[in-house]
Amino acid sequence: MGERWYTESVIYCLDVETFQDSNGDGIGDFQGLIGRLDYLTRLGINCVWLSPIHPTPGRDDGYDATDFYNVDPRLGTLGDFAELLHEAANRGIKIIIDLVVNHTSDEHPWFQSAVASKDSPYRDWFVWTDKEPADRHQGMVFPGEQAETWTYHRKARAWYYHRFYDFQPDLNFTNPQVRTEIKKILAFWLQLGVAGFRMDAVPFIIELTEPGNTNSPMDFDYLSELRAHVQWRRGDAVLLAEANVEPEKLPEYFGDSGGSGNRIPMLFDFMLNGRLVLALARQNPEPVIEWLRTTPKLPAGGQWATFLRNHDEIDLSRLTSEQREDVFAEFGPDDSMKLYDRGIRRRLAPMLGGDRRRLELAYSLQFTLRGTPVLRYGEEIGMGEDLSLPGRYAIRTPMQWSFDTNGGFSAGPPVRKVISSGEYGYKKLNVTAQRHDDRSLLAWFERMIRTLRESPEVGNGTCTCIDDGFPPGVLVHRADGATGSMLFLHNLGTARVEVDLGSLAAEANHPNEVFGDQDYKEVGDLSALELGPYGYRWIRLQRKSA
Ligand code: NOJ
Ligand code: CA
Repeated sequence: MGERWYTESVIYCLDVETFQDSNGDGIGDFQGLIGRLDYLTRLGINCVWLSPIHPTPGRDDGYDATDFYNVDPRLGTLGDFAELLHEAANRGIKIIIDLVVNHTSDEHPWFQSAVASKDSPYRDWFVWTDKEPADRHQGMVFPGEQAETWTYHRKARAWYYHRFYDFQPDLNFTNPQVRTEIKKILAFWLQLGVAGFRMDAVPFIIELTEPGNTNSPMDFDYLSELRAHVQWRRGDAVLLAEANVEPEKLPEYFGDSGGSGNRIPMLFDFMLNGRLVLALARQNPEPVIEWLRTTPKLPAGGQWATFLRNHDEIDLSRLTSEQREDVFAEFGPDDSMKLYDRGIRRRLAPMLGGDRRRLELAYSLQFTLRGTPVLRYGEEIGMGEDLSLPGRYAIRTPMQWSFDTNGGFSAGPPVRKVISSGEYGYKKLNVTAQRHDDRSLLAWFERMIRTLRESPEVGNGTCTCIDDGFPPGVLVHRADGATGSMLFLHNLGTARVEVDLGSLAAEANHPNEVFGDQDYKEVGDLSALELGPYGYRWIRLQRKSA
């Protein structure tokens, strides 16, 4: 893989803690993950995004770090982590880590020192004010679990700012020392060999918080600075940002107005996520088509990362209330499935009623839309959620490997309950069972990902929706790149339909179907392409030597 390798990747995200335990203490670890790299190789992914790996009191699943220069000893040593990087590289797998530097844990020595005295060298590393700010109860990210964004600290005798939980004090990015320190952290991990970072909460990193101002200034230049720094240290490193912001604000995250793409090369497409889920709920692709048409233009090299599920709730806040209600009605009918009034805390398989056809359709669509697909661990076997666990932990249960105790995750008492009963319990649903079954969802993912690797136009080409008065429920799009053109048909509805794409015959060169939900008739002159209920077809229109 050359430069811009991330445009031809499939990213697999996992939490080391819940993936594979190697020493029976019930906690997943680096050695366990190393033992599963061959599984990931066979699956066909080539990049792993690790959830936070730093030492942590674990009050927000690791998004509350106490030392950015080390690994959580429960996961192993820094030596184990270096071994992981080496073993992954041997298999052509790159590792990116979660970079959570908007805030620290309140147990971080920097904050501890900052609260101890106004004269502490770390005092100004956090955001303080002496008077209660007027916007104290505004801007919470976790409504219901969090009552304020400014909290009075008795020992510090001042109010500190925290965009997230009160145990996650925000770092002060107006302080040049903080900015320099963050660069050092990035450089440290690059030096060890990570291929990049998933950057947590980017809009809040660049927000230069002013007490009482709900519209504090944003410093986008810091992103350019970080990008340049990272690229000087490792030319092919990638930054993948979480920035769930209004569409018109997105381009600024990719680059400045000069159009050079000098900031974050890759962003999660949260808009697409909400629209995909809405389209699946309504069995109507219109919301996706509309977003593909109206997505702001990205600077050269800018890339989307697509996803259906991640480790958080599905955030529906960018849908209208009517759209949101449709999604809730279909996928989150029970209150226990909802979170923060805006999201759904479920895995995709149960959301789709365990319907294999719909699951394939959903993932086929995500993986063929423009950008780099990101896949959450366990989705490839159709894992479920445990709604008895609080909040987002419902979708963070251990990986189900086998029929053994705790699904083969650990021989000891697991850090989090493994789903053990019902359709989604490990006795019915696990990797071993699916590995021995050619028709399993896992086998499907392996074939699908292999076929995608043969279709690089999806990741590095141009994606266009074709709109030609197709039957309701049908989405047709194409991907064109230096290596040729691919055509994709998806039927989100349940009616059997026929699609006429005869107008493309002239440019096609021996078009042939490379992947689909069933054996369809030959594609012929493309004028009568059949699609079954929830059907999908991937057709290579032509291949060029790049
Ligand atoms: C976004 C992460 O995805 C989420 O899990 C976390 O709680 C917050 N950032 C705070 O770090
Ligand atoms: Ca362990």
